Amino acid sequence: MNKEPIIGIDLGTTNSCAAIVEGDGQVKLIPYKGGEYTIPSIFAIDDKGNELIGHEAKRQWQLNPRNTVYGAKRLIGRSYKSDVVETMRKIVQYPIRAGSKNDVVLDVAKKEFTLQEISARILNKIRDVASNYLRVPVRRAVVTVPAYFTDRQRQSVKDAGKLIDLEVVRIINEPTAASLAYGIRSLAENAHVHEKVVVYDLGGGTFDVSIIEIRDRVFEVKATGGDIFLGGIDFDNAMIRYVLEDFRAKHGVDLSTDPVAMQRIKDLAERTKIDLSSREEVPFNIPFITMTAQGQPLNIEMKFTRKQLEQLTAPFIDRTLQMVARVLVDSGLSTRDIDEVLLVGGQTRMPVVQERLTKFFGKPPSKGVHPDEAVAIGAALYAHSLQDDTNLRIQLLDVIPMAIGLEKAGGAFHVVFPRNAPIPNAKQLLGTTSFDNQTELSMRIYQGDGEYVSQNELLGDFNFSGIRPDRAGQVQVEITFDVNVEGILTMRARDPQTGREMKTTVRVTQS
Ligand SMILES: Nc1ncnc2c1ncn2[C@@H]1O[C@H](COP(=O)(O)OP(=O)(O)OP(=O)(O)O)[C@@H](O)[C@H]1O
Ligand SMILES: [Mg+2]
Repeated sequence: MNKEPIIGIDLGTTNSCAAIVEGDGQVKLIPYKGGEYTIPSIFAIDDKGNELIGHEAKRQWQLNPRNTVYGAKRLIGRSYKSDVVETMRKIVQYPIRAGSKNDVVLDVAKKEFTLQEISARILNKIRDVASNYLRVPVRRAVVTVPAYFTDRQRQSVKDAGKLIDLEVVRIINEPTAASLAYGIRSLAENAHVHEKVVVYDLGGGTFDVSIIEIRDRVFEVKATGGDIFLGGIDFDNAMIRYVLEDFRAKHGVDLSTDPVAMQRIKDLAERTKIDLSSREEVPFNIPFITMTAQGQPLNIEMKFTRKQLEQLTAPFIDRTLQMVARVLVDSGLSTRDIDEVLLVGGQTRMPVVQERLTKFFGKPPSKGVHPDEAVAIGAALYAHSLQDDTNLRIQLLDVIPMAIGLEKAGGAFHVVFPRNAPIPNAKQLLGTTSFDNQTELSMRIYQGDGEYVSQNELLGDFNFSGIRPDRAGQVQVEITFDVNVEGILTMRARDPQTGREMKTTVRVTQS
């Protein structure tokens, strides 16, 4: 291959994966050391100061829990003060702190890292694996994000790419990418494709659902929804809580303050959960988890049944189905209108997830996409369609997942773009000065579905300066909100009388 490749990257909460369309037009997952296709999204620094990424980081995380970062995708582009960050702080063994831009920073082996820097390292690892495999330097990629990511989270992923000189040529939504993998394959087998599909994507950290109408190579998202804080990690945590409670009841010892014990429990919880997808009952034993005050070793000796796991995690699955129902309503469709239900994400292998979806839609989910691979494959197909000499034309018509708007008096949220508004999209607002010789105007922009801005994520404080000095109410300011195809917002302002553009600056401040 001599032209500059664009690869597709699925940057997952737990696992990342890359793919490319090769010279013969076939889409291929990029293998790591000959075998595996996924790389754990884990970053660590060992006691010698070496940075470890992927499998190497995962291999040592039981022994080095404080300096091993996982689930970073849940923190990127987040305000430190959000509930999500508070919850993560309680779950993970690595330290989470407030940064200077109302963001989150991590201390790994006494070094400070932003989430962009952590994600950049994971992206860099994927890029290196791809460059080695393709034998050409990889400088460009299409990167997928959860449909339910805000503008700020999307921007952060682009910034992570910049840190390692990887141009993120396009951000696309994970469920949309999965539908592409499905649709383009169908089109290879059929003369025409005209279907409405639901993509149900339950991964390690996030849940997304999109309803997409496929008309040959046109992919039109009708509605999307999700929960950025609902995934396999939460299933594991429900098991961990149960184990801790059981141990406390039996031995009167609280293991939650012991990072190494916690990491061992976490590891086994996930493996047990996965085993319970194919078995009815699995033992849960960890020898020498701690010692009594008298120096006697204590063991964890339990078992889990599939039924038990289902009971512990039923509230999560309920939440996903409530979201599916909402997205159906938003799209104006009913379950009968849906041709296929596509399952994406490792957690959809849990049998009860499939059973409940079968009941909900009155038919079993499709086997048409691979739950671990579809997102990267879709990203690679889209990347291919962006190459100059491409013979693959794809049209993606996506939407914004949550409303974007501004703060009104009293903290109310004034919606500028409602959720599911098609992108790209632009809207204009006309403001006027409110005092004499006013030269600046500020606006706080938020994203979310809450009625009050305090319930939503702050995207930034936009400041427009260089307003013509005059009496109050005499000068108009025309403000344009622009959401691009990637769901990223930019704003600009001009004086409609003179046509002059004003200077715009954005700050993400402490709210
Ligand atoms: N057989 C299985 N049964 C149940 N859960 C499984 C199974 N295999 C994998 N999982 C779970 O799937 C999750 C990982 O899924 P996946 O790799 O799709 O996530 P991801 O892409 O990294 O995350 P996200 O898309 O949320 O960012 C983990 O929580 C893992 O425990
Ligand atoms: Mg995923």
